[in-house]
Amino acid sequence: MTVNDLLIRPLRWPDDSQPILALCTGFESDTVYDVIAQVDGFKLVERQLNQPLSKNYDLADELDTLPGFERVLVAEYQQHLVGLAAFRPERWNRRANLVHFYLDDKVRGQGIGRQLMLATLAEAQKMGMRALWLETQNVNYAAIQFYQKLDFKLCGLDTSLYDPSQLPGEIALYFAYLF
Ligand SMILES: CC(C)(COP(=O)(O)OP(=O)(O)OC[C@H]1O[C@@H](n2cnc3c(N)ncnc32)[C@H](O)[C@@H]1OP(=O)(O)O)[C@@H](O)C(=O)NCCC(=O)NCCS
Repeated sequence: MTVNDLLIRPLRWPDDSQPILALCTGFESDTVYDVIAQVDGFKLVERQLNQPLSKNYDLADELDTLPGFERVLVAEYQQHLVGLAAFRPERWNRRANLVHFYLDDKVRGQGIGRQLMLATLAEAQKMGMRALWLETQNVNYAAIQFYQKLDFKLCGLDTSLYDPSQLPGEIALYFAYLF
């Protein structure tokens, strides 16, 4: 990847809508984190699965909400839209809520996610935010590794957020990057 191949820019609407819809946002993993309740807290423990699990972040229903976000960045690699980041600055506590963050599966593992996240952090900081906050799930091993590599810290979890009849075994984990 050369600098010239990668462009991170604001959303163009509606031109970007179809390329965003075409992104492959899903993942497959053979490792998850179990969230173990203890008397005085929780422990995250890595577990290998016998069968890989897969999950998809479906953007079809969310697409029309994108222009309503105050900041949406896209990554273009070799002139193709390959990544999306969208956050909402919350002014009462100066914390930005990163709602969407995806790299197309064809371009993962090349540092593009890191570049998009660094640009997102820079935008949030420029807007006067003191933190960038996000939610992911205990089953998204790659994302957890990624956020930790980017110096996000686990700042909470919610064992009751997801309906187990729809998302069995999924627990919400919250990460924050403090500027
Ligand atoms: C998580 C995701 C954004 C990472 O993007 P990416 O472009 O592949 O990440 P990068 O190549 O920039 O990697 C940055 C760092 O994260 C680490 N990382 C990325 N994927 C990883 C994985 N699967 N396992 C372990 N570490 C990983 C890299 O090793 C790298 O660290 P290093 O620079 O110290 O080597 C991407 O896999 C993705 O879009 N996944 C599907 C959508 C998703 O889960 N979004 C998050 C929803 S909460």
